[in-house]
Amino acid sequence: MTTLTICTPDDWHLHFRDGDILTETVAATARCFQRAIVMPNLVPPVVNAEQAMAYKARILAARPAQSTFEPLMTLFLTNATTPEDIMAAKASGVVAAKLYPAGATTNSAAAVTDLEAMYPVFEVMATQGMPLLIHGEVTDHHIDIFDREKVFIDQKMSKIVEAFPHLKVVFEHITTSDAAQFVLDASDNVAATITPQHLLMNRNDLLVGGVRPHNFCLPVLKRNTHQAALRQVVKSGPAKFFLGTDSAPHAKEAKENACGCAGCYSAWSAIELYAHVFEELDALDKLEGFASHYGADFYGLPRNEGTITLVREEWTLPDEIMLPDGRPIVPFFAGQKVSWKLQA
Ligand code: NCD
Ligand code: ZN
Repeated sequence: MTTLTICTPDDWHLHFRDGDILTETVAATARCFQRAIVMPNLVPPVVNAEQAMAYKARILAARPAQSTFEPLMTLFLTNATTPEDIMAAKASGVVAAKLYPAGATTNSAAAVTDLEAMYPVFEVMATQGMPLLIHGEVTDHHIDIFDREKVFIDQKMSKIVEAFPHLKVVFEHITTSDAAQFVLDASDNVAATITPQHLLMNRNDLLVGGVRPHNFCLPVLKRNTHQAALRQVVKSGPAKFFLGTDSAPHAKEAKENACGCAGCYSAWSAIELYAHVFEELDALDKLEGFASHYGADFYGLPRNEGTITLVREEWTLPDEIMLPDGRPIVPFFAGQKVSWKLQA
């Protein structure tokens, strides 16, 4: 096979940030995706309909000329979020709400501390048909960072899913066999996104031969048996697992730092990286469902009408990209080769 044409894909989890950088991040994603679920962890976070719609307008203004790319907006849940906030958000076109346990990751200090106090909010989300997007890690200091996803499933995720069987839940950027199994065993209202880095890498890629800050993301890369389980699940192709890059730009200086930021900027090679993985798995026939069908189906949105074509062509990812403010950023997989390229 030398070309591969699929229904235009969507990215069901990414970070655009705000301000000047939008011309960089929105263009990168609009290159191959028709829609994207835009994470709300700005500083300060996007906590109501008005802020979400203002942010949407800034994203639309940053699109390249002729682009029909559509951002799908989300709300950042805090201890102060009310059922009324959810109804107003839904009415204004906000698509989903994101639950970050406080302190779980970049800019999540404002997030939820008491999950059970959020149950009235989840109740309204269930009746409004608004998906709950969950960063599934506990943040207790005494829990090992490699165990935080598994402990979250046991202590929190299983309770939420049991208490709200009609709530659509996306277990975001899953990293473990435990999470994959949890989603497989759950009802059809529970799905998961999987990033390119968690399919391509394991914690050796973070730590062997020296610390590799550009491979540091949250949830952190796990041992190779977990990577193998995620690869197996996308190879087998159930509709509960779909594409979410978690592309999250941080300037080079913020990553190559004594306290380096978590996040991989994968937008410029996103669909190619997934094609690369699916080819390694001898499962290119499963790429379209994962990248272009299952996410839309789960969210209850129409599948895209257009197509994209990937060409088998080896290319090397650039070592650096310049941000609009003149600072360099190192893209995920910099300097490495991928075997498919999006046809312009
Ligand atoms: C994300 C970011 O930089 O905003 N970082 C990351 O490592 N994935 C936040 C997140 O999704 O956890
Ligand atoms: Zn994210």
